[in-house]
Amino acid sequence: MPANLERLPVALVGAGYWGRNLARNLSAASETSLGWVIDPDVASAARLAAPTGASVGATLDEALADDAVRAVAIATPAATHYELTMAALNAGKHVLVEKPIASSYEQGVEMVQEAGRRGLVLMVDHTFCYTPVVQKIREVVRDGTLGDILFVDAVRINLGLVRPDVDVLWDLAPHDLSILDFVLPDGFRPLAVAAHGADPIGAGRACVAYLTLTMPDGAIAHSHVNWLSPTKVRTTVIGGSKRTLIWDDVNPSQRLAIYDRGVDLQYDMSQLGQEERAAALVSYRSGDMVAPALPEREALLGVLREFASAVREDRAPATDGNAGLRVLDLLDSASRSMSFHGATVPLRGTR
Ligand SMILES: NC(=O)c1ccc[n+]([C@@H]2O[C@H](COP(=O)([O-])OP(=O)(O)OC[C@H]3O[C@@H](n4cnc5c(N)ncnc54)[C@H](O)[C@@H]3O)[C@@H](O)[C@H]2O)c1
Repeated sequence: MPANLERLPVALVGAGYWGRNLARNLSAASETSLGWVIDPDVASAARLAAPTGASVGATLDEALADDAVRAVAIATPAATHYELTMAALNAGKHVLVEKPIASSYEQGVEMVQEAGRRGLVLMVDHTFCYTPVVQKIREVVRDGTLGDILFVDAVRINLGLVRPDVDVLWDLAPHDLSILDFVLPDGFRPLAVAAHGADPIGAGRACVAYLTLTMPDGAIAHSHVNWLSPTKVRTTVIGGSKRTLIWDDVNPSQRLAIYDRGVDLQYDMSQLGQEERAAALVSYRSGDMVAPALPEREALLGVLREFASAVREDRAPATDGNAGLRVLDLLDSASRSMSFHGATVPLRGTR
């Protein structure tokens, strides 16, 4: 097999819930192979390694010493991402790290700089960005189908596992924030965030959180994440000046609908004074709804293909370390806002 078509040998670190999915896809993808499974719980690591004959170890150092390993996939708790990523980069391995990329912005910056210095790929697993529905949303947001973006409203609530290490903000919001980062046009990034969180069951960390993002041109984005909802809701609405889309991820027969309905203004409001604006007429447009056909395929396979291609082609992946850093900036700033009772915190990228 020509060298550029060889499967990328990857050491997987973390044999827990998400590690299981990564192990299955690392061996199923034609672009990657599972070289090692590492976990202090060696029995769990051995169970994942067994079907493929991958080596098993308790610490990452064992896999880093193996010259055959070219890349490391990290699926451990967020607090370990920085240390494990830096160790892998220092050993000259490419890294795919789970979300969130690190537990603090400063750590994320170091990781991105180290990968850049060494010419290695650092990719963050923003899994949803590799689903057909999010790729379609990116297309219609960026090609102007929706017009100017006016508002975004994302709800991700269910009866969730109360995690021992992170609050609901750091557990669930990375999904919506990474999706926003992926689909919105490059010049249309959040400017500031205000967040409220609550721990109504006394779990010791926020189980419910509401984030409000200040967007350019007077637009606004909102995200609600919640571990305490008895029903599962996964809905995102993106309202534009021309059309509005509704993504309902728990409705596989119609995940995405694009509505040609909305509000039309009779005049250019920027040309009117205060009183004239109040009196100006608003009319409602009621056109068709289109539900685009979407293929069903496992996003994680797309993640691994992108990782292997980025390594092979020596380029940044679609969700590179900088995308991870922008999400980290939002999470970090939202956490600070929560501790200041919802004060608006400007994002670092805009300071
Ligand atoms: N992309 C997604 O959609 C998605 C979904 C779920 C979880 N995740 C992310 O995956 C990561 C892991 O989550 P999980 O739900 O699988 O957790 P988990 O607790 O089920 O598994 C974590 C595993 O890591 C192991 N581990 C801990 N420290 C280690 C170390 N230093 N070296 C090697 N192994 C170590 C633990 O023993 C455990 O087996 C988190 O960052 C989480 O946010 C991502």
